[in-house]
Amino acid sequence: MGYIKSAALEETGYVVLDRYNKPIDPKEWHDIEYVDWKSSGETRFAPLASAKGEIEVNGFWNHKPPRTDKDGVWIPSQVEKAPTLVERALEPGANVGRCRVIELMPNTYADTLYNLHQDDNNRLNPDGTGWVVRGFFNLSDDKDSYFVLRENRTDPSVEYRIALPAGAQVIVDTQRLWHAVTHNGTEPRYCLITSWESGPELDAYIEKYNGVSRVPNVEVPQEVLDAGQAEQARRIAARAAYYAAKGQAEKTAMSEA
Ligand SMILES: [Fe+2]
Repeated sequence: MGYIKSAALEETGYVVLDRYNKPIDPKEWHDIEYVDWKSSGETRFAPLASAKGEIEVNGFWNHKPPRTDKDGVWIPSQVEKAPTLVERALEPGANVGRCRVIELMPNTYADTLYNLHQDDNNRLNPDGTGWVVRGFFNLSDDKDSYFVLRENRTDPSVEYRIALPAGAQVIVDTQRLWHAVTHNGTEPRYCLITSWESGPELDAYIEKYNGVSRVPNVEVPQEVLDAGQAEQARRIAARAAYYAAKGQAEKTAMSEA
């Protein structure tokens, strides 16, 4: 039967929506509770919706009973501190799975290439239902930072680099595209990440905010790109050697952005 997917994401695996341009109080993401959760760099996460409404960020398939990344349970103590963030996550009217704010410490393009991963949002997702994709709403104003998306982890020939100023809104099929963020700056980056079920509601939302499947790549000097590529190869080889020595397969997929 197959999954219901958005035609808008078919070409590149992502869409960029109109920029969110209403004022929003930074207290909404500063005052909520974060938990340590290493993923693609130095990160913490503040869940707004989780598997059982508790302040934890584990994949829903790691709970009992295990389930896919849908039907997230809102956490009252977090929701009351972040009403606008919740409103934005609910606006499409699509089923919401995990919904959380990520805090990411500054890193480099080379770190990003090493951190590239695919998500596992559709584990246990019943065939014939909507494919789970993710919305990324940048909250802090990270003018020099950018999302890196690739079809293939180690192949630079298809690489999208999307700017992340405050208000940037991107929806990504994170199970298809390898992804991570280059955060140039001195302060942490904050971004609202929401798992949405694909379907007519999400399609209408993408259309309402003029989603486009291609935007100009953020310009990065060729020497930075080349050095990052070389460093990614070096780190992957070092990691593979480490796991080979331990007699284990290398782990490449992580659960979070
Ligand atoms: Fe991810």
